[in-house]
Amino acid sequence: MDKYVIAGRKRLEGSVKISGAKNSTLPILAACLLSQGTCILEDIPHIEDVRVMKDVLEHLGCRVRWDMNRMEVDAGGMKRTEASDALARKMRASNLVLGPLLGRFGSARIYAPGGCNIGDRPMDQHIKGLKLMGVEIVEKGGFIDARVKKLRGADIHLDMPSVGATENLMMAAALADGTTLLRNAAREPEIVDLQNFLNAMGAKIKGAGLDVIRIDGVKKLGEAEHTVIPDRIEAGTYMVAAAITHGDVEICNVIPEHLEPVMAKLREAGAMVSVDGDRIRVKAEGRLNAVDVRTLPYPGFPTDMQPQMMALLATAEGTSVISESIFDRRYQHVDELRRMGVKVKLEGNVAVIHGVEVLDGAFVEATDLRAGAALVLAGLMAEDATIIENISHIDRGYENLDLKFRGLGARITRISKA
Ligand code: EPZ
Repeated sequence: MDKYVIAGRKRLEGSVKISGAKNSTLPILAACLLSQGTCILEDIPHIEDVRVMKDVLEHLGCRVRWDMNRMEVDAGGMKRTEASDALARKMRASNLVLGPLLGRFGSARIYAPGGCNIGDRPMDQHIKGLKLMGVEIVEKGGFIDARVKKLRGADIHLDMPSVGATENLMMAAALADGTTLLRNAAREPEIVDLQNFLNAMGAKIKGAGLDVIRIDGVKKLGEAEHTVIPDRIEAGTYMVAAAITHGDVEICNVIPEHLEPVMAKLREAGAMVSVDGDRIRVKAEGRLNAVDVRTLPYPGFPTDMQPQMMALLATAEGTSVISESIFDRRYQHVDELRRMGVKVKLEGNVAVIHGVEVLDGAFVEATDLRAGAALVLAGLMAEDATIIENISHIDRGYENLDLKFRGLGARITRISKA
């Protein structure tokens, strides 16, 4: 397994360009299954999760061409409606093919993995909505077998604003008979991006970004070209990197509105954050102040930025409290951060962090995607070297992470076991 070696205590300066959003790309790739033709996608990030989703689409019979950050998906000749178990085990988001397969073919068999390192990941809301749309579902041995003659529009009230359930049900409803209302829908920017892509294919959807989405089913969906939105979590990660190293960094190719909760929290902690078009500049003169963070569905503070904020608050002046209200086990990074001298106490889903001036370099291990990012951030500020094992977790969601950080002056090297 590859690892990163980081020599810390180096101020980051300069500018970094943000890639396309992983959490937009994955549902949009799944949505390509609804098209009778070829869809062309731009700004697709070269990351592991996209590689896996490409394999899933090819397994289902799509023809996929991927050249740099452009991907062409031809779903015209699709023949299979069973996602590969091995591939599905590699990535939870492969469950996003469920809605499109049902919308297009009326049948689907997917592997529904159980919990993971960040918490239980049930699909009860996906299933609740599909059943209201007339789908017969058998869940057995970790698989979901779903059948329907023709999806019918329904009035669906989600128990919680689940991102994946909102996406799966939007995609299924796009080809249903009649109108579907999705209430208590997730409002993340990636949902709006998916709506825009589906409408470009000929769907009739409105309300994404609000808590009620209306989908008027159509007979079929055609071809479309689309550029995915920038990755707000990648951008937030580099914003925290600027703050933790007391640096001065310009983060380019962002949609600042998507980063409002992160900008507000960094300002509250004493960083200087300014916006100029599609650029955000983050500057910090010295140690930040302790602040409290509660993760919430968008537009609240994103759970995908919680580990990164913990790394930052570990070096702030004072005591911070983090409440993780989205996932029930998203603290795998705590044990690894403790090895670097982070003073943190866990009480259920609440973490109390006592800031220290300097962290210690250490041998640590990435346990999941954002936990790995948090270890990189802590390593940037630690005395001596930090060695991070299992960085394949980080490869899942960050394009060229070491290259981008070296471009900002960080001393980070990737050591490949091979
Ligand atoms: C998406 O996951 C993102 N992944 C996650 O990003 C992100 O953390 C999450 O949304 C929340 O914003 C992608 O978009 C590919 P949810 P998803 O359904 O759709 C519970 C990253 O780091 N729930 O909104 O799986 C669930 O257990 C990843 O990029 C149910 O109870 O998230 C969780 O506690 C990590 N029943 C909460 O809702 C359901 O049917 C939020 O889950 C569905 C979800």
